[in-house]
Amino acid sequence: MTDLELTDATFKNLRDFIEKKCGIAVGDSKRYLIETRLSTLAKGVDCATFDEFHTKLVTSPNSNLADQVVDAMTTNETLWFRDQGPWSILNEKLLPECSGAVSRSEKNKIRIWCAAASTGQEPYSIAISILEHIRNSGADVKPDAFRIIGTDLSPSALYVGTSGRYDRLAIERGLAPELRERYFVENDDTWDVNSQVKEMVQFEQRNLMEPFDALGRFDLVFCRNVLIYFSADLKRDIVTRIGERIVPGGAFIVGASESLQGMMGIFKMKQVSGNFFYQRPTEGNQ
Ligand SMILES: C[S@@+](CC[C@H](N)C(=O)[O-])C[C@H]1O[C@@H](n2cnc3c(N)ncnc32)[C@H](O)[C@@H]1O
Repeated sequence: MTDLELTDATFKNLRDFIEKKCGIAVGDSKRYLIETRLSTLAKGVDCATFDEFHTKLVTSPNSNLADQVVDAMTTNETLWFRDQGPWSILNEKLLPECSGAVSRSEKNKIRIWCAAASTGQEPYSIAISILEHIRNSGADVKPDAFRIIGTDLSPSALYVGTSGRYDRLAIERGLAPELRERYFVENDDTWDVNSQVKEMVQFEQRNLMEPFDALGRFDLVFCRNVLIYFSADLKRDIVTRIGERIVPGGAFIVGASESLQGMMGIFKMKQVSGNFFYQRPTEGNQ
């Protein structure tokens, strides 16, 4: 099926619509993404041109067409234990500290937010890391002391995450065979996260463009491989608001190609075995 043709004016309209709705900045060099990803959607709602499609989009605010546009424009690429750095930071520093705080009764819950959870591999990798930490260290903590919330904008990604079911292609990306054995149940060439892992993670639809204060405060926030899609101003705003959600002493982990340079605000940069993360200083240690 050939793509619909996109005029300059309609490209600008659609680009502005997308950025306003979900923050994703579609630069001129990514114009083809609108053409390729939205053509089928436009034809599916009987639009013969992108102009007609844009008009339909802005004149039917209550339809779920806008959600479909956002879903089509987001990139849900993810995998198990993506990049080595965050998992070293978790295993070597953050999990020992968190479980120590729980076993000394300084905290009774550790709250973790995975702010662009996509299809669930990242929050479930965090849950598996916690279970492995408890198993290997003999820490005196129960898994239910850790609560993970995975949020994302994309309903189709959240659907997969909530189901906890993965096909062969997805399961084979980044997951060690012994972890698959230990934490998944195989079913006719699909794998379900087991109930222990699943119970540790809850999913919720959240747009980072909108207020997220209602989520409460967190000991640890992962927000990886999503800030790259946003303009500098928007990124600064989201980082500031995430900072407000992190408890003093809590940690913030961004993607390998993302940095908070020029927008560190309340954070201090920390290093564990050559891997960087950001920390909100404890009171009295600003
Ligand atoms: C490339 S994936 C990254 C997934 C995971 N964090 C990782 O690093 O593997 C980016 C995710 O960000 C989500 N996303 C994009 N814009 C968003 C927004 N405004 N609010 C919340 N999530 C958003 C997309 O739906 C997508 O699932």
